[in-house]
Amino acid sequence: MGTKKLLLAALRGERVERVPFWFMRQAGRYLPEYRQLRAEANGFMELCLNPNLATEVTLQPLRRFNMDGAILFSDILMVPHGLGVRVWFEEGEGPKLEALDPSGRLPGFDRATFSARLAPVYETVARIAARLSAETTLIGFAGAPWTVATYMIEGGSSREFARTKSWAFQDPVAFDRLIELLVDATIEHVSAQIAAGAEAVQLFDSWASALPARAFERWSIKPTQAIVQALRTRHAGVPIIGFPRLAGAGYEAFVAQTGVDAVSLDPTVPLAWARSTLQSKVALQGNLDPQMLVVGGDPMISEAVAILESLAHGPFVFNLGHGVVPETPPEHVAQLSETVRAFRVSR
Ligand code: CP3
Repeated sequence: MGTKKLLLAALRGERVERVPFWFMRQAGRYLPEYRQLRAEANGFMELCLNPNLATEVTLQPLRRFNMDGAILFSDILMVPHGLGVRVWFEEGEGPKLEALDPSGRLPGFDRATFSARLAPVYETVARIAARLSAETTLIGFAGAPWTVATYMIEGGSSREFARTKSWAFQDPVAFDRLIELLVDATIEHVSAQIAAGAEAVQLFDSWASALPARAFERWSIKPTQAIVQALRTRHAGVPIIGFPRLAGAGYEAFVAQTGVDAVSLDPTVPLAWARSTLQSKVALQGNLDPQMLVVGGDPMISEAVAILESLAHGPFVFNLGHGVVPETPPEHVAQLSETVRAFRVSR
């Protein structure tokens, strides 16, 4: 074994003696120590932009469960914030943004201004890097352009993406310009995280499934491919995980065309299909349903073992199929962590 970092090795497609794991949204409201710091901070954005607090929140789940990966505590809406868009969180309502108007002007991308606004995030990455054990991999992340665009146009979360689709379908060339802006900003944001110490990165395309198949190629696959290409040139050897959530059969083209090193599978992806179609090309990550972690006990363990038995023969990182939900009992996370840590591949 060349490296002690199992997660990094698995993402690079190397054989490892045990399946590495981390959980999307492993820091957050299900942890009482998070809720306490969150109450002391002056809002969620301030929590993300305070390197002291964001470092502490990142490390909280590791102290309890010792995952193989630490994901930077931040948010995909930091990119709009870096672009000068007003972003805030209303208690119990989720994110709000000053919404873009298709007839208005796009925010400009000035690299120096953007980097200065997001400097606390990169400072956080450096502080986490300095405090991780030699076995733990530091994961940076960003939202993929399409998903971030939906928040910018809708002004927050959405179910139908009516404003975004109306813009994209009516004036695709103008919409391309917003996506290109977000490609540039995302490359800058992820590059800066890597420069500060992130060892692997994940691109969250959480709303990829809202795109019809041809639009998925244009606004999920193509922008991801552009980001991957630029990151490869600047930071060879840093694994990139793509997460085109709920993309169904679209996962195949996503893997074939984007150049990512790994894909994160949502819970609907059939394990046998993922193994036969995707795993010879990329490392896989996933895909336990987060509600299984709320249930805990035997149902959770038998589902986790089924996932491990299907996918652990090739390059694999155990994870959930989406983020930990606030209702999750921390004891279930402990139980799941122990299950994955104890699992051995039978060869
Ligand atoms: O995984 C981690 O532990 C790292 C932190 C992280 C957060 N958001 C913290 C957060 C990550 C990787 C994200 C990504 C993110 N943010 C995504 C993509 C992943 C996904 O879930 O699909 C999206 C779509 C967002 C946007 C966002 N941020 C929403 C829709 C919300 C509100 C929903 C909610 O859970 O309240 C957030 C807020 C947010 N981001 C919280 C956390 C811990 C909760 C904020 C709080 O404490 O009130």
